[in-house]
Amino acid sequence: MVFDTVAEFRAKRNDAVQFIQSQTDFIPDYLLILGTGLGQLADEIETATSIDYEEIPHFPTSTVESHAGRLIFGVLGGKNVVAMQGRFHYYEGYTMQQIAFPVRVARALGAQSLFVSNACGGLNPNFRRGDIMLINDHINFLADNPLIGPNDDELGPRFPDMSEPYTTRLVEIAETVALEHAIKMHQGVYLAVSGPTLETKAEYRYMRRLGADVVGMSTVPEVIAAVHMGMDVMGISVITDECFPDALEPVNMEHVLEGAAMAEPKMTRVIISVLERL
Ligand code: HPA
Repeated sequence: MVFDTVAEFRAKRNDAVQFIQSQTDFIPDYLLILGTGLGQLADEIETATSIDYEEIPHFPTSTVESHAGRLIFGVLGGKNVVAMQGRFHYYEGYTMQQIAFPVRVARALGAQSLFVSNACGGLNPNFRRGDIMLINDHINFLADNPLIGPNDDELGPRFPDMSEPYTTRLVEIAETVALEHAIKMHQGVYLAVSGPTLETKAEYRYMRRLGADVVGMSTVPEVIAAVHMGMDVMGISVITDECFPDALEPVNMEHVLEGAAMAEPKMTRVIISVLERL
């Protein structure tokens, strides 16, 4: 699905928004996107309503097994949130506009901030499997962009500024709460690739030289859509494997999910504590 006109986009977004509003009158202030192997945070939400993606008009449906595929509305850290349990990846064959669609819908429902998590490979030699990293910037290596096509000027500008995609105030609060809870948290740059292949040694070496600290297959499309609409953004990566070109071990999905499970409690603590602090 690609939107050919602004009118088509608005009609489809409004269908999705109206359907959700027919199911719940809950108004979320925060959109949470839970990455691969990171769905546990959803268990902490005092759930008001949950809606399967497949029920929502024009919503993509999740094809990856480790993703549940529903929106959860409820209270977390004292704040009204909607969580996407399961997200959409470019490698699944979705267009960038489809990946951004839930962010557009959440914005229309009232969300003004995006908290996004992901599983990634660590390129920075100081990072270890099971560590977490607060994202302070990104590199878009997807060779595509969710804003390509007609621009809805009511949502945001044709040429959005990208000088601070990750909100400095949220970075500062996250650093404070991590310190208070004695959680070791790195900070750095997330590089997004399409996948689904993992990288070669030569690619990891090249990405590190470009200035990336971690590499993953998600997050950037949703962040671009959120920034376009003027939303605040916080992103946390969990390092599921060490991608050091001179000591590279083969990885599989099981290993990635195990790495995510090691890091998940730290990530959950940081996100809840930031919400409590806001
Ligand atoms: N590369 C890309 N995506 C990933 C990786 C990786 O090494 N690990 C987990 N997601």
